[in-house]
Amino acid sequence: MTLRIAVTGWTGQIVCAMLERVPVGVEVVAIRRPELDLAVPRTIAPALRAARADVIVNAAAYTAVDQAESEPDLAMRVNGEAAGEAARAAARLGVPVIQISTDYVFDGALDRPYREDDAVGPVSAYGASKLAGERAVAAATPDHAILRTAWVYSPFGKNFVRTMLRLGEAREEVGVVADQIGCPTSAFDIADAIFAVARNLRQRPGDPSLRGVFHMVGRGETSWAGFAEAIFAEAEQHGRKPVRVRRIGTADYPTPARRPANSRLECTKLAAVHGVNLPEWHEAARSCVARLLAEEGGRQAP
Ligand SMILES: NC(=O)c1ccc[n+]([C@@H]2O[C@H](COP(=O)([O-])OP(=O)(O)OC[C@H]3O[C@@H](n4cnc5c(N)ncnc54)[C@H](OP(=O)(O)O)[C@@H]3O)[C@@H](O)[C@H]2O)c1
Repeated sequence: MTLRIAVTGWTGQIVCAMLERVPVGVEVVAIRRPELDLAVPRTIAPALRAARADVIVNAAAYTAVDQAESEPDLAMRVNGEAAGEAARAAARLGVPVIQISTDYVFDGALDRPYREDDAVGPVSAYGASKLAGERAVAAATPDHAILRTAWVYSPFGKNFVRTMLRLGEAREEVGVVADQIGCPTSAFDIADAIFAVARNLRQRPGDPSLRGVFHMVGRGETSWAGFAEAIFAEAEQHGRKPVRVRRIGTADYPTPARRPANSRLECTKLAAVHGVNLPEWHEAARSCVARLLAEEGGRQAP
């Protein structure tokens, strides 16, 4: 029997990766604005009902982390209240909801990877809004899986890999923050994980162990500077000129929003409960760079 998954958003990194990775026996319905606008609550339930899905994935979000500092109410409406509204709609439809969340629910002060039950404490408006979303989903229905991820990249949209490749075109050296550590995570690996979790939720409807909060990031860890070095090394393999990474501190790169110094997430619960292990970050990052440069070459060819 086909598993029909409705996902919010259309242009988002995770949605694009899901649409490219649809496995056999799965159908993905991406719902975009204006049919479903998370800032307009009355659009949410009707759009989700019309999708007639077996599982609902809320992957859309207000993701402009710095801008959220000056628009905290909008961020809260989209990431907090609307996530709850989507989960209530899922509950009324009798289907599970998967909510995508973030490492930014933590303050980053811990000296080891965060576990699901570690104390939360967001240090940004975006983080606070995503935490409100988690709480609203959990309050709306027990039939939920909240998947916290981090440092997402892909060939789509705005992300660190694309930014580094763009900066590296024009510069010999790029200054990159070296005192924030985390786990780069490919949107394709997230897409595969979502499909596996969705299947499990559908196949074992009464199993509470499959429900709750799970951490979901690439294996291994690095700093933003280490990530940038890997990106430039791979780009060099594809004929790009070398680019040096100058390691800077967070204090040297002030941004409106504070970010956690430690974004590492411990993923053993997802592996034990859902049988999902995301691959090592380096390999997936290499193939993303290779694809982006191949696509760029294709565009430049006469
Ligand atoms: N990127 C990361 O590093 C990262 C890290 C941790 C967690 N996450 C979480 O992962 C999820 C996906 O992130 P992403 O990087 O794939 O996002 P993204 O590429 O920034 O895309 C965001 C998506 O949300 C949609 N959206 C924004 N406001 C909306 C609204 N009011 N109503 C309906 N749709 C709206 C956008 O649609 P439009 O095209 O119409 O604007 C777009 O499709 C989010 O929940 C995010 O919080 C991301």
